[in-house]
Amino acid sequence: MMRNIYNAIGFRIRKALRFRRPGMVLPNEAKKNLFEYASGDRRLALSAREEELRKVYKLDPLFHASSRYIYRDNLYWLEGLERCFDGVTLAKSAEFKIVDVGSNNFHYAFALARFFETATAAQHLDMCGYEIDGHVVYADLHSRADYAAAYLAQIRRGRYVVADFGLSTESGADVATMFFPFLTKDALLWWGLPIDCFSPQALLLRAIACVKPGGFLVVWNQTDEEADQLDGLVSGARLVNRVRLKSDIVDYGEATADRVGSVFRMPFPEGSQRG
Ligand SMILES: C[S@@+](CC[C@H](N)C(=O)[O-])C[C@H]1O[C@@H](n2cnc3c(N)ncnc32)[C@H](O)[C@@H]1O
Repeated sequence: MMRNIYNAIGFRIRKALRFRRPGMVLPNEAKKNLFEYASGDRRLALSAREEELRKVYKLDPLFHASSRYIYRDNLYWLEGLERCFDGVTLAKSAEFKIVDVGSNNFHYAFALARFFETATAAQHLDMCGYEIDGHVVYADLHSRADYAAAYLAQIRRGRYVVADFGLSTESGADVATMFFPFLTKDALLWWGLPIDCFSPQALLLRAIACVKPGGFLVVWNQTDEEADQLDGLVSGARLVNRVRLKSDIVDYGEATADRVGSVFRMPFPEGSQRG
């Protein structure tokens, strides 16, 4: 109860102030011994995997302008997306639109853009991240929106919209992504949002509605229980893949042990041409 009141006041203040501070420079750290938390052959294998991902997804601009945490996190997102689309055909397409729901500060924007660009050979990528609470301020006095703008500048594309996605009219997406949406009120309260922002089914249905026929919805959950819950909330889309997201390419590998990725596909209208 107290937590909800506290969150509601904070959320309203952030929404009214829409805090931004110019001069955002993303921190950079050397990437030497990136996998020092692993040992022996495992460390060598992780280094080889990093080199492979860097080459395939053209990660050099990120490699040279990111913290170790953000760089590894983007590697994790790429691994997870690869697993999600393993055995699922993504058609080649000149244009590709991604809508990400609940983007936080969009720390994974680079991986998200590069994965779909690479998989579809798209020349024009439209990527939009929606975040209801984009003006949370960090210790360095920059906000989530400042960070998101800097991450998007690294890939020279994409939009970050501070708004309730449930109220958006976004449409025509080839893929909608929801990484770790709140499925319990406790998780939402812990994150700092008030209870009246809790609307998992409405958010999921809006995400599904924004995807084209034949397009995809990708959802990552923290546990199997959440993934089961997700199945009860998604309607009008078919589950085509469910994968484990455990990986020690991040130094918090153990915390990824129970994570699950799901890919749903939107149906084509009856009698229409299938892609
Ligand atoms: C658990 S966090 C995950 C953030 C991010 N996807 C990640 O993996 O780091 C869920 C995010 O969804 C955002 N969110 C919740 N409801 C939303 C809504 N209706 N519209 C847009 N964003 C929302 C929250 O503010 C939060 O940043």
